[in-house]
Amino acid sequence: MKNFFKTAFFSLLVISGFWGFSNFGIPQIKPAPPPVEEKLDLGAMTMDQFIALGGKIFNGKGTCTLCHNAMGRAPMLDKVGANAEERMKDARYKGEAKTVQEYIHESLVKPSAYVVAGFGKSGSNDTESPMPDVSGGGIGLNEAELAAVIAYLQDSSGSEVTVEIPQMDAAPAEGAAPVEEAALKTPEEVIVKYGCGMCHKVADQVGALGPDLTKVGKSKSKDYLRQAILDPEAVIAQGFTGGMMPPTFGEQMKAKELEMLVNYMAGLK
Ligand code: HEC
Ligand code: HEC
Repeated sequence: MKNFFKTAFFSLLVISGFWGFSNFGIPQIKPAPPPVEEKLDLGAMTMDQFIALGGKIFNGKGTCTLCHNAMGRAPMLDKVGANAEERMKDARYKGEAKTVQEYIHESLVKPSAYVVAGFGKSGSNDTESPMPDVSGGGIGLNEAELAAVIAYLQDSSGSEVTVEIPQMDAAPAEGAAPVEEAALKTPEEVIVKYGCGMCHKVADQVGALGPDLTKVGKSKSKDYLRQAILDPEAVIAQGFTGGMMPPTFGEQMKAKELEMLVNYMAGLK
């Protein structure tokens, strides 16, 4: 009898150990299905389809909604058409746009031509925008994609859509071809894919909305860094406000990508 209890107790111990490990030891990550790139076949497109394509880019590849969302880290764009008219007349306007379409285009590739009051890089007194040039860097929208996004913004803000569908059988060199996404191999690729550099200074990127991560491994442990990605609200970095960093990376990332990122950041000293 004594042996029976011993064995039972030991078994329970082992089982609860495994249970605890699988529930708390392994980060709970659901790998998302790889997003399939839109193939741009502009020749056959109607304006409605072109606008819808712009919406997809806005919500997807463009990473616009990382910042332009209800959390208030960037201005809402639901009246961008009407606002553009006002901005171009403002004494602080430094750009060259004459029309709403040109203003939006300029906002995308030279964000600092006009910085919406209260949204400038901290310390720049609203002269420098924290928004990246979305035609370069990690986002890299081409002219056709920019045009689609502009058409979408004009349409969704209730302005007249003045954009014309570009006349080219655009099969952009990059972007269109890969149907199956190759597994990411380096932490830099992970950082680009998830847009960390939009908000953080890290891996040659110069985002300015969140803390500089170029030496984050000096003071932060791997556990802290993992939590900062999976549950950004758990600890708010000193000098910053909560509600800014997207809480969805845990659902989007593959476990391998997360561990690559954590190891990489822990080594930044
Ligand atoms: C890293 C955050 C961030 C990302 C990503 C981002 N923006 Fe912005 N955007 C801002 C901020 C902050 C402003 C306000 C400062 C300024 O005027 O540049 C802004 C301003 C704008 C403006 C001018 C608004 C106005 O009222 O004058 C437009 C248009 C715009 N963004 C469109 C986009 C689009 C389209 C994308 C995606 C392709 C995008 N943004 C991605 C942060 C971002
Ligand atoms: C839209 C902007 C934004 C994006 C995109 C973003 N972050 Fe952040 N992040 C922030 C802000 C703001 C903070 C500070 C507030 C907080 O701690 O939640 C922060 C905090 C952090 C911290 C904690 C730093 C410290 O010193 O405590 C880490 C680590 C971090 N982010 C990593 C990442 C990684 C990795 C990615 C990409 C997978 C990413 N962030 C994407 C805005 C962003």
